[in-house]
Amino acid sequence: MVIFLHGDLGAGKTTLVRGIMNAMGYSGRIKSPTYTLVEPYHINGLDLRHFDLYRLNDEAEWEAAGFRDEFDGRNIFLIEWPEKAMGFIPKADIDITFEILPDGRDVGIKGNTPSGRECLEQF
Ligand SMILES: Nc1ncnc2c1ncn2[C@@H]1O[C@H](COP(=O)(O)OP(=O)(O)O)[C@@H](O)[C@H]1O
Ligand SMILES: [Mg+2]
Repeated sequence: MVIFLHGDLGAGKTTLVRGIMNAMGYSGRIKSPTYTLVEPYHINGLDLRHFDLYRLNDEAEWEAAGFRDEFDGRNIFLIEWPEKAMGFIPKADIDITFEILPDGRDVGIKGNTPSGRECLEQF
């Protein structure tokens, strides 16, 4: 499952990731992967990868870090700033788009694949 989180700095992407992981039963610290680019988690038998690609420079860096091998069909990916890896990152099953409004935030959620849509139907 690949989930893209779109939105400006401070829009609430990391906050939603924390909320999802807490709801899954994780009570440890969830730090923003701003500098590490990725943080791995194992929660209730599921392997999650929280990416923040804001500081990713290019495809060579992506390959050198071995990120391509992560996409083996088993892991769940929550990816902030996927725009930085467009063209060499897998397609998203779900797109979540944040918009900062004068009084709050607007969030759009879209399923792109059968498994993405099936996941959203559980809501
Ligand atoms: N839905 C929300 N309502 C109010 N404040 C929020 C909301 N989501 C995030 N914030 C606050 O905005 C700040 C930045 O959020 P963060 O999730 O780090 O943004 P992003 O990861 O998109 O850069 C944090 O201080 C957070 O507490
Ligand atoms: Mg963030």
